[in-house]
Amino acid sequence: MTKRYHVTTFGCQMNEHDSERMKGMLESLGYGETAERADADLILFNTCSIREKADERFVAHLHDAKIIKRGKPGTVIGVGGCWAQSMKDLVFEQFPFVDVAFGPGQVPKLAEFLTTDSITAQGYFEFEGFPAHLPTKRDRPHQAWLQISVGCNMKCSYCIVPSTRGRESSRPFEELVAEAERLAADGVVEITLLGQNVNAYGRDLRPQPRKFAELLHAVDAIPGIRRVRYTSPHPQDIKQDVVEAHRDLDSICEHIHLPLQAGSSKILKAMRRTYNRERFLDRVEMIRAGVPDVALSTDIIVGFPGETEEDFQETLEVCEAVQFDSAFTFVFSARRGTEAATFTEGLVSREEKVDRMRRLVEVVQRNAHERAQRFVGRTMEVLIEGPSRTDPSRLRGRTTHNKAVNFQGFGEPGTFTQVEITSATSQTLMGEQSLVDLALLR
Ligand code: 5AD
Ligand code: SF4
Repeated sequence: MTKRYHVTTFGCQMNEHDSERMKGMLESLGYGETAERADADLILFNTCSIREKADERFVAHLHDAKIIKRGKPGTVIGVGGCWAQSMKDLVFEQFPFVDVAFGPGQVPKLAEFLTTDSITAQGYFEFEGFPAHLPTKRDRPHQAWLQISVGCNMKCSYCIVPSTRGRESSRPFEELVAEAERLAADGVVEITLLGQNVNAYGRDLRPQPRKFAELLHAVDAIPGIRRVRYTSPHPQDIKQDVVEAHRDLDSICEHIHLPLQAGSSKILKAMRRTYNRERFLDRVEMIRAGVPDVALSTDIIVGFPGETEEDFQETLEVCEAVQFDSAFTFVFSARRGTEAATFTEGLVSREEKVDRMRRLVEVVQRNAHERAQRFVGRTMEVLIEGPSRTDPSRLRGRTTHNKAVNFQGFGEPGTFTQVEITSATSQTLMGEQSLVDLALLR
């Protein structure tokens, strides 16, 4: 009988992509996927440790797996990703029912474990480069991730990632272009380039260093690739050549995720973000001068140690000045092993953090709502993703700005259509399929 696996993924797109590679690898070993964790012979978790909440959520799931294993002792439990890496062998001490643990991206180690009949629990926590050429089982046939680098050389004082994903290392340029070509041949129309700091891509390549903008040009040139996205850039490294790629190349989407983190230069310094408020605003100006209609999204942390009410006001001011199209907002959470976890001065109380979050979300949503109104009345190209989550009689898709669109119409997932936008909230656009496209369908 075929062995069955079940994977639960937490965290970022990098993890989602790693899970697709785990699934591809498992299927090549003869495993089949099951929708129910309780039916699986192999229960896998791809974990995240970015904030305390992520840890708590995951540990509850792990407990569920433990109960399943109690009833079916042969079940193998595997834990991969950032939480596993940050815990290392402590995983086995604290959770003795875990059979295998491995760091982010170490998918081949999982294969090694499964194919060697190991009777003892195994942990794999060495940093190794990117294991290429693994089969991938994509969630959406027409959309693909392409990981362009591993690791991160920045030292943001709040962030656990440099310690879980190691030093930055770029994948060879030719290898990436060849993979993008294979994806296009396989029917992929949208590629998202993934890295912890994508615009640092290529500086470490030898003998020929490369630039991120060069990679954008090369992927844009591949026939069939209609949309190229990337995440995440660091505001420090976003340069004119990347803005020009957005302006000049058809496939590079009109969306940039530019993580602000805080609006106060003092807090940015304590975060080791390497830019100050003025420099961030200057980057935004440069981007908007090149691509006036660009959608900007961001990440913001409130309640960092030492953040006073005045510092927080500066975050609100930057939000009002930039008018982000969307923002992910987080309450600071001390992470094991990070510099900020050792800060003891100016700690912000729980109540204050919650209150700042509430006030920030208000500003973010009002601005996003106002910004979204510019789309109303326009007819926009939408990549169809499937039925709407809230109303299955409607379709859902995305514009180049990465705005979700809910609309009345017809079309297969993975195809493009024109939608006239009739209204907009801070999160979603609503619309009707253009009559021209409807006529084509008849
Ligand atoms: N506490 C709160 N938010 C954090 N982030 C990263 N580390 C922390 C932390 N310790 C946020 C940052 C980052 C996003 C992915 O998560 O805003 O950009
Ligand atoms: Fe992704 Fe960071 Fe979570 Fe790791 S800790 S999965 S890099 S979000």
